Amino acid sequence: MELTSEEVLNRLNQRGFIDKDVPKDIDLVAEIKRLKKEKNAVILAHYYQEAEIQDLADYLGDSLYLAQAAEKVAAEMIVFAGVHFMAETAKIINPSKKVILPDLNAGCSLADSCLPVDFKKFIDQYPGAHVVTYINCSAEIKALSTIVCTSSNAVRVIDAIPEGETIIFAPDKNLGRYLIRETGRDMILWDGSCIVHEAFSFERIVNLAKEHPKAKFIAHPESESQVLDVAEYIGSTSGLLKFVQEDDAQEFIVATEAGILYEMKKRCPEKTFIPAPVEDDTCACNECAFMKLNTLEKLYLCMEYEKPEIILSEDLIKKANLPITRMLKLG
Ligand code: 13P
Ligand code: SF4
Repeated sequence: MELTSEEVLNRLNQRGFIDKDVPKDIDLVAEIKRLKKEKNAVILAHYYQEAEIQDLADYLGDSLYLAQAAEKVAAEMIVFAGVHFMAETAKIINPSKKVILPDLNAGCSLADSCLPVDFKKFIDQYPGAHVVTYINCSAEIKALSTIVCTSSNAVRVIDAIPEGETIIFAPDKNLGRYLIRETGRDMILWDGSCIVHEAFSFERIVNLAKEHPKAKFIAHPESESQVLDVAEYIGSTSGLLKFVQEDDAQEFIVATEAGILYEMKKRCPEKTFIPAPVEDDTCACNECAFMKLNTLEKLYLCMEYEKPEIILSEDLIKKANLPITRMLKLG
C-alpha cells in the first residue's frame, strides 16, 4: 500500500525513513537528479557509500575533501551521503545551508566511543594540553578541541604544534599510535576504535599475501598496529586511491571499508583489488553498517521531504567551528 506524503512524514517523526516508504515504480536515480535541480541541492558522498550513491554525488571524496567541499557550497541544500559527524561538520562550516542526511542513525563507532561528559573529565586532567581530535567525533567533542584533523592531514596538524607541548589525541587509539610513530611526538590517547578497521585479521592477511606474492598490501591508519606494521602503504581513503593509481603493482590487498573498491576499480580497471580478510567469514564486517544505512531509497525520501535535517545550536556551531577552521587553514 502506497503511503501519502503526510503518512510518510508522520512515520519519519516517529522513527526515520525506511526503504519501503518509497512509492513503487519510480525511477530513483532520475527522481534524485530532478530533486537536485528543483531544490538547488548538492550531494556530498564518502567513498564508503553504496556504488549507486557514489555515482550520484556532486562531490565524492574522503573526510577532508568533503569538509573542504562543504565549506564552498553555494547551493541552498547539502545532502550528505555519509555518516552523522560528516553532516554535522558540513553544517558547522557552512551554517546558512540546510544540511540533510538520509538516515540520522548513520553514526560511527569512533564518535560513539567519546562522550562529551567523559571527554571533558579526561582533558581536564591535562591543563594546557593541545586537544587534537580526529574529525570522526561529535560536534560537542569538536567544541572541546584545539584543532581537528582527518587521516589525510593528521601528520601536518600535529607537526604544526610546537615541540615540547602536551598533546591529547582522540578518539581513535589506532590512528593515534600510528601518528606517534610517524611524527615522533608523544601523545596522550583516548581509547576509541573503528569497528570496521579492527575487524581485519592479521593472520589471514599474512596468509593471503603469501598466496598473492605480487600483491601490495595497503591499509587505512584506523587499522590495528600489527596490521599497519605489514602494510606497504598507509593512508586515508584518498591516499589509498592515489597510491593504487600511481604504483606499478597490478594487484592490491586493501584493508579499509569495502566501498572504496568501487572507485579503485573505476580508476584502475586493469588492476585487481582484493578486500583484506576479516576474522569472521560469516559477517560483512569490512562494510561499515553505519555508512550502509544510507540507501538510494532513503536518499530520495530525504531530498523529497528535506528531512532529517542537522540542527545545531548557534553556540555549538560557534565553538565547534574554530577547531575545524584551524584545520582547514592548514589544508
Ligand atoms: P577518510 O576517508 O578521511 O580516510 O576516513 C575514513 C573513515 O573512516 C571515515 O569515517
Ligand atoms: Fe566510523 Fe569506522 Fe564507519 Fe568510518 S568506517 S564511519 S570510522 S565506524
